[in-house]
Amino acid sequence: MYLFDNNFVIDIITNREGISEKYSDIVIFCLKYKQAYLSTSQLHNLRFVFKKHYKDYYQDYLIFEKKCKIIKTPSYVDFETALAEMDMDDYLIELSAQVVNAKILTFDKKFIVMSNLAMHPDDFYQLALSKTESENIPFLDLKATQQELSTELEQSFDRVLNSGWYILGPEVDAFEAEFAAYCEAKHCVGVANGLDALHLALLALGVQPGDEVIVPSNTYIATWLAVSQCGAIPVPVEPDAATYNIDPTRIEAAITARTKVIIPVHLYGQPADMAPILAIARKHGLRVLEDGAQAHGSRYQGKRIGAHGDVVAWSFYPGKNLGAYGDGGAITTDDPEIADRINVLRNYGSRVKYVNEVRGFNSRLDPLQAAALRVKLKVLDEWNARRANIAARYSHELVNTDLILPTVPTWAEPVWHLYVVQHPQRENVQKALQAAGISTLIHYPIPPHLQTAYAELSFAEGDFPIAERIHQNVLSLPIGPHLDNAGVEAVIAALKATANA
Ligand SMILES: Cc1ncc(COP(=O)(O)O)c(C=O)c1O
Repeated sequence: MYLFDNNFVIDIITNREGISEKYSDIVIFCLKYKQAYLSTSQLHNLRFVFKKHYKDYYQDYLIFEKKCKIIKTPSYVDFETALAEMDMDDYLIELSAQVVNAKILTFDKKFIVMSNLAMHPDDFYQLALSKTESENIPFLDLKATQQELSTELEQSFDRVLNSGWYILGPEVDAFEAEFAAYCEAKHCVGVANGLDALHLALLALGVQPGDEVIVPSNTYIATWLAVSQCGAIPVPVEPDAATYNIDPTRIEAAITARTKVIIPVHLYGQPADMAPILAIARKHGLRVLEDGAQAHGSRYQGKRIGAHGDVVAWSFYPGKNLGAYGDGGAITTDDPEIADRINVLRNYGSRVKYVNEVRGFNSRLDPLQAAALRVKLKVLDEWNARRANIAARYSHELVNTDLILPTVPTWAEPVWHLYVVQHPQRENVQKALQAAGISTLIHYPIPPHLQTAYAELSFAEGDFPIAERIHQNVLSLPIGPHLDNAGVEAVIAALKATANA
């Protein structure tokens, strides 16, 4: 990111005599890659200077200003610093640059001497030319989400801070209404995190100690932990080896007189096959809780995940497709009774302050997180589309390698929370990618039934061989709304070099 000092902006726009063409290249580059910033503290001066001294260029300036991202000038100033004493304008620009970790491009020599962030455009040019081709590729660039939405987030956080409502209240209400509509569900209740969403949903479905709940053997441990938190017993069912999701044809064999609920997980952002699961539940009088923690926006048979089963549990952990800037969770459902029960359970078992109907919990969605989620919900479809483009590139380009690529059934519209491949020498592939500066992750290295946390269930290696094989071979490639083309190409090239047939 680059913040343009006033002298640089003026020289470029007025095309000052003798100014090198490379400076306009820099500006075009920064604008193209959405890396061009101006500080709010500059706007007044810049407009004034153009209006007063460079009238003919005023319209050009306004167009340029519109294309830049405006970054706030913080109020946390320290007037004692040397830069503040030398030049207050420069000091405020530096404060803004610090907010987004930007470099400042300036012709002002004194500014360059006084500030670690300020640099001459010539040095920028040299740096860009000398840059080696490959840059490190993170698994997911979370900071970039903040940078893209910084203005909207700032506004929404300010709104909450100024509202005086810091627990539940209008921001949470608004998010719940918007997220329910997005998920094509009638109700949404915000809770503190995804694990609580699962736990409270199970309680709302009437799960009691000693009951059995069917869970995938191939999932993140949270799905199992929620069952255990109710004193119930997780009963694992193997996945379909192609889709990684619970295999509906294996569910009935796991049902006993004590079974109460089935929890399909829409793992990696791909919906589980809900129709046969719902048919089995109906036949046996069971309830269905969907774990949607990885599937914000995905569709099953054309309808969004949100209310296919009795209730869906959501996580807004920062790395999720719809992620907060801290913990957050929710449930969605079409059933008003389930929504009402969770609404009471999340708030000390209370509907009216100091009147407690049941022994509840403190598990409320934070209004600051709700405000951020409202901003991010607006771009969720666009960001999911960016993920889908990356997934399509991977699937197209990696088809002739010896990697096993994801399978998408015709009824599924996944949202590519993760792009998971399999390789029998997974560790070697991961090391080769790491050597090329590419970060990958494993979702997940140890299945829940082999975790020490579940030693008391006495499962042994070999009990769930499909899940175990998946856990041994899977590797998640970098994917996210801010992974650019060059990054995708680099991942593909590295994989072709290491995992060729
Ligand atoms: C499948 C699944 N279920 C549940 C959770 C729990 O969510 P949280 O971390 O918000 O508690 C997660 C996320 O980590 C998850 O991936």
